[in-house]
Amino acid sequence: MVGMVENDANINIMDTEKLKSEIVRLKKEKNAVILGHYYQREEIQDLSDYIGDSLALAQKAEQCDNDIIVFCGVHFMAETAKILNPTRKVLLPDITASCSLAESCKGEDFAKFKAKYPDHMVISYVNCSAEIKAMSDLICTSGNAEKLVRSIPESQKIIFAPDKNLGGYINSVTGRNMVLWDGVCMVHDAMRAENVMKLKIENPDAAVIAHPECNSALLQVADFVGSTKAMLQYIEKSDKKKFIVATETGILYEMKKNNPDKEFIVVTAKDGCNCADCSYMKQNTLEKLYACLRDETPEILMSEEMIEKAKLPIVRMLEMSKKLGIIK
Ligand code: 13P
Ligand code: SF4
Repeated sequence: MVGMVENDANINIMDTEKLKSEIVRLKKEKNAVILGHYYQREEIQDLSDYIGDSLALAQKAEQCDNDIIVFCGVHFMAETAKILNPTRKVLLPDITASCSLAESCKGEDFAKFKAKYPDHMVISYVNCSAEIKAMSDLICTSGNAEKLVRSIPESQKIIFAPDKNLGGYINSVTGRNMVLWDGVCMVHDAMRAENVMKLKIENPDAAVIAHPECNSALLQVADFVGSTKAMLQYIEKSDKKKFIVATETGILYEMKKNNPDKEFIVVTAKDGCNCADCSYMKQNTLEKLYACLRDETPEILMSEEMIEKAKLPIVRMLEMSKKLGIIK
């Protein structure tokens, strides 16, 4: 299907403005909603009905009454939308848009890992497959992980999967000793603390803000650590005019839109590389979004049994997040 889009002559001859207007037309005609993550391409963010972080988009997906949900994000996000709202048709413009964290944690391996710690509960970061969610007691996102972990009694032992950086960060701020699965986000983990230090010397008036998927050395030199949404809120409240940003580049669009008078400098793994772009997130393009709305494929399809099993820990997350005042 993905190949077909690239070879589709009708799409190739359509100019960008025509593509955009066709997407808007099809969306209306088919009663579809477009949910877009902050890391998507700018033109996709512009066409999205809602832009947000993983937590906000999961909640939006649950509440949608449209016939079609087009999820402009990566596979685990679209899968979460399907789990939360299974009677809707959920589409993902590029079905191969994965995530290094989800890829690092396969069901069979995780089952063996989990069996080594029979008295532990499993908290999984939402960046994992439905299969892993189905083996978990509770799901979290970067926006609620710390508060959810703090709400679990100290005596309860925990396995945290699949992000060892996020898990390590939560361990460091809560004093817990969660057992960590050895997975990383290939984008955030590659960002270097040395580069942040260099940027800090060049820009002494800037605040360093970082996503908790970054490695621990980098998090130690950050002034603020938080999810995509938390970073946006921090910038808006801050008196600073300059920010050194350790997260995926897509979010700069929203940062600049909301704060035209402020300056943002992205942290990279090496000088001059595009490594702060998530190649998975950027797999969705206008052409693929158009084709997916037109043809109503690729669709997220899952067995009812898998939906039921994976739903429990996600619903638990949403309920606990409401109780803890993290979401409304
Ligand atoms: P949040 O939107 O929860 O901050 O997650 C970032 C991320 O890496 C999504 O892939
Ligand atoms: Fe996965 Fe990292 Fe890309 Fe997010 S930015 S989708 S965590 S690889």
